[in-house]
Amino acid sequence: MSDRTIEIRPDKNELAAAVAEALEQAVDAALQRGRNAHIALTGGSMGEALMKAWVARADDERDWTRVHIWWGDERFVPAGDDDRNDKQADDAGLKKLGVPANNVHRMPSSDDGDAAAGAEAYAQELAVFTDVTAVGLPEKPQMPTFDVLMLGVGPDGHVASLFPGHRDQLVDRVTVVAVQDAPKPPPTRLSLTFPALAEAREVWLMVAGEDKADAVATAFSSSDPVECPASVVGGQVSTTWWLDTAAASKVEQS
Ligand code: 6PG
Repeated sequence: MSDRTIEIRPDKNELAAAVAEALEQAVDAALQRGRNAHIALTGGSMGEALMKAWVARADDERDWTRVHIWWGDERFVPAGDDDRNDKQADDAGLKKLGVPANNVHRMPSSDDGDAAAGAEAYAQELAVFTDVTAVGLPEKPQMPTFDVLMLGVGPDGHVASLFPGHRDQLVDRVTVVAVQDAPKPPPTRLSLTFPALAEAREVWLMVAGEDKADAVATAFSSSDPVECPASVVGGQVSTTWWLDTAAASKVEQS
């Protein structure tokens, strides 16, 4: 995992604006490397704020046909349900970006079958569309490589739908899991796994609010995925914690 960088902004709106600006730069950098850009979105209120800020500065000149959108997790409810992370991104303006609908890789919904089948289907979609690392190696099968993977962090230190105390999510050979008893509603979710998160080029954790200050401090002092899932995630090239002042208030700055 790469070293941690911390970026602090005064409040959630300024934080979202700064992340949106950095995201545009990261997308352009990926396109300039001559490949498609694969971006994984987070759900939650930070995901909504980021989408609104991204749409506000969206650039019509970019070749959006080479940009692919994914999600790090999804609430396993019917398509179009207000609880779904993709619906919240739609409501925040996702379609205004110009990304073709075929490049928006929505996680399966409860209309599509059971959650385990949904996890398997999304894993296959990831393997087809993204560049994958270490194909064929038994210990590291077909992990997707996102250019930027964004994650919110819960007050309990969860990321995506990987929650503290859940040893069953410590898998090493699959990229997507079905989560059946999430403490944050709804209880059934789909989530990328720790090994899938770890192959991203850049991982950006975005956290705002005083109620997250303890989780951020714990993430910086722990390295236990069961105690604090956020403590062990990071990208291959960079790991950036985007914090507002309140969320950063218990972090000891050196
Ligand atoms: C979800 C998320 C989840 C979220 C955190 C933070 O589906 O709920 O993906 O991991 O990012 O719970 O959410 P907030 O930004 O709303 O605090």
